Amino acid sequence: MSRTVYLNGEYLPEEEAKVSIFDRGFLMADGVYEVTSVLDGKLIDFDGHAKRLERSLNELDMASPIGMEDLLAVHRELVRLNDITEGMIYLQITRGAPDDRDFVFPDPDKVPPTIVLFTQNKPGLADNPAAKKGIKVISIADERWGRRDIKTVQLLYPSMGKMMAKAAGADDAWLVEDGKVTEGTSNNAYIVKDGKIITRNLSNDILHGITRAAVLRFAREARMEVEERPFTIAEAQAADEAFITSASTFVMPVVEIDGTPLGDGTPGPVATRLREIYLEESRKTAS
Ligand code: PDD
Repeated sequence: MSRTVYLNGEYLPEEEAKVSIFDRGFLMADGVYEVTSVLDGKLIDFDGHAKRLERSLNELDMASPIGMEDLLAVHRELVRLNDITEGMIYLQITRGAPDDRDFVFPDPDKVPPTIVLFTQNKPGLADNPAAKKGIKVISIADERWGRRDIKTVQLLYPSMGKMMAKAAGADDAWLVEDGKVTEGTSNNAYIVKDGKIITRNLSNDILHGITRAAVLRFAREARMEVEERPFTIAEAQAADEAFITSASTFVMPVVEIDGTPLGDGTPGPVATRLREIYLEESRKTAS
């Protein structure tokens, strides 16, 4: 069934939503995005995603084509029009479509940004069977650009990482730079040792995950110990547990790293408990 999508102020059937071949998102990956999950027909952590979007736009000197309140209304309308109970909303804003290809940014007064939103219907997102089994990851070199704190649409290397994982019989890849894990291809990475949750500290090296912020808050509220620092793959392989977080996976246990099983090779109690807490608490504040 055809979705209704949002393009530059209009709700359209997906087949009718077209953007220019000169759009800088297409030609230069000059765009930013957000993914917000939907549970019970409500948005999870919309404010966090909206704030990060504003920050990404600011960092790239890009104008926002929409106020954050209107953006919330568009998200809700797409959920309603497409009858989404569980799934995701994808949002992308690019620097728009000038008349020709040029490395120089176009004048924002002459070229408006392009804004696109669409829904992804994912029944069973919260009850994902993978969370009961856990996922396997491999490690690969982090060969992305240096501003990973900005959520840009430059997703070629993360896509290549997922393909490398698939070719190795794994589910995803963790990225390693200067001997330390930065994050997953599309998620933040954590290990658990002697009850302590360890995850890389925030910097330009990683995306500041909205799920990460919530999970660390819930962990601290539940009196779990949290340490924000880089860790190596060897330390991760010797950990009791590991997991990833993102808007599409919530908290997902990792049970194997580069072929080494963690603990007994099944999801650990900390990751399992954090997933429960995260789903329970974020449903309460969903909007
Ligand atoms: N990815 N790190 C990277 C590189 C990511 O792409 C993502 C999100 C995260 C987690 O951020 P959050 O908790 O705000 O979703 C961390 C989204 C889900 C995606 O690209 O589909």
